[in-house]
Amino acid sequence: MGALGALPFLPIASVRGQATALIPTPSQTEGPFYPRTFPADRDADLTQIAGRAARAKGTPLYVAGRALTRDGRPLAGATIELWQCDVYGRYHHAGDEGAPRDDNFQGYGVLTTSAEGHYAFKTIRPVPYSGRPAHLHIRVRPANGPALTTQIYIAGDPVGGDPVLAASPKGTLALLSMPLGPVSGKEPDALEGTFDFVLG
Ligand SMILES: [Fe+2]
Repeated sequence: MGALGALPFLPIASVRGQATALIPTPSQTEGPFYPRTFPADRDADLTQIAGRAARAKGTPLYVAGRALTRDGRPLAGATIELWQCDVYGRYHHAGDEGAPRDDNFQGYGVLTTSAEGHYAFKTIRPVPYSGRPAHLHIRVRPANGPALTTQIYIAGDPVGGDPVLAASPKGTLALLSMPLGPVSGKEPDALEGTFDFVLG
């Protein structure tokens, strides 16, 4: 752990009795590839499409964390959507046709957070494409209140020249970076990352 974007579930530090709010997760553009039509299989494992024998190409990536309010309370029952490119940098989207593409990659998944605000996806490590660094697209829809649309970047990846980050306020990248590390008990090359979303 030690992720800039990963916040431990601990009582919020207080200074002279005043609660210190968490820093809200910055929003980012939805981008052009939010699905127009959703896949029949839209579960939280994007590496396996129901009914297909083959799994998605690419490095398996386990992403988990929590959705929280600014004062550290879990957002139970929030909907979290993840959409991203396949190992070839292609989205499952009519606006991103062409080859090569991985038809065994689900491209989009959605889940509901637990009573403690937890979520977990299995996907692949995203790759850079056409001037953009590797990123995951995320939307968090709490049971009440406005949604957060953002993007998660991979800590340590080069991001120079990215037009989205260049147009973002200073400090945005640090708040949206997710370190990855090896994971035991999964595929030998699998990676895992933790990222908490703070809405408010
Ligand atoms: Fe994208």
